[in-house]
Amino acid sequence: MDRRSFLNNLSAATVVSIAGGATLSDKADALEDALSVELDKRIATPWFCSIEPTPEPVAGDTRPWYQHEDPRLPVMPAAPTLIDFFKLRFAPANHVLQSARLARANGMNEKIVLACLLHDICVGNFIRTDHGYWCAQMIKPYVDEEISWAIEKHQALRFFPDESVGYEYPEAYINFFGADYKPEPYLVQAWEEAKKHRWYMTSRLITLNDLYSFEEGVVVDVDDFTDIIGRNFRQPKEGLGFDGSPVAHMWRSMIWPNNFL
Ligand SMILES: [Fe+2]
Ligand SMILES: [Fe+2]
Repeated sequence: MDRRSFLNNLSAATVVSIAGGATLSDKADALEDALSVELDKRIATPWFCSIEPTPEPVAGDTRPWYQHEDPRLPVMPAAPTLIDFFKLRFAPANHVLQSARLARANGMNEKIVLACLLHDICVGNFIRTDHGYWCAQMIKPYVDEEISWAIEKHQALRFFPDESVGYEYPEAYINFFGADYKPEPYLVQAWEEAKKHRWYMTSRLITLNDLYSFEEGVVVDVDDFTDIIGRNFRQPKEGLGFDGSPVAHMWRSMIWPNNFL
């Protein structure tokens, strides 16, 4: 940890608590507490939805746990569509919306634009770990197989440059994981296999249009993609989560992320 930036970023309350220690030992204890909090912040806790007793109590609601409707979340329609999920659960979803916008501006076909729109949708609301695999699985019953394949493989491909199309290892990953990070063998294997596949370029184009930084001032509305979604996403009439598909439970988990049981 960079000592100077750590000290510069201490909150006023922490500085007061360290400075207020009566003895050198008290000050050292307060500093150690602050360091420990700082370290906790740097380790993202993997989470699978969010099952907690009311972290922010709702006035007048004395239930210790939520079952079905969570008053802190917008109510979903009885038969939710993909667009309902974008508006009521994924929002603001800037990363995927901006990536899809970029793909469209770059003249990509509809399959690629949809793949970019969906490639990370599980990250903020469902699960971050191995997200390419989870995202692909969530949408598999509803899209062309090429789209779900490409989304699954972007998990591995984004770690490997492809000079033939100008894809470089993302600079952000050097900041995130350190310059000496090496992708695990299962990722190397997935990349090696994907390279030989006829849909390799579909997945590679997801990584090429994957925006690693938020574009200031660019607001993209999911309604801009209504036509592409309508033509390429097989919306179940019962609604996502209620169509009895092998992945329905994943969508229900996002509708009711705090269901106790
Ligand atoms: Fe991703
Ligand atoms: Fe992404």
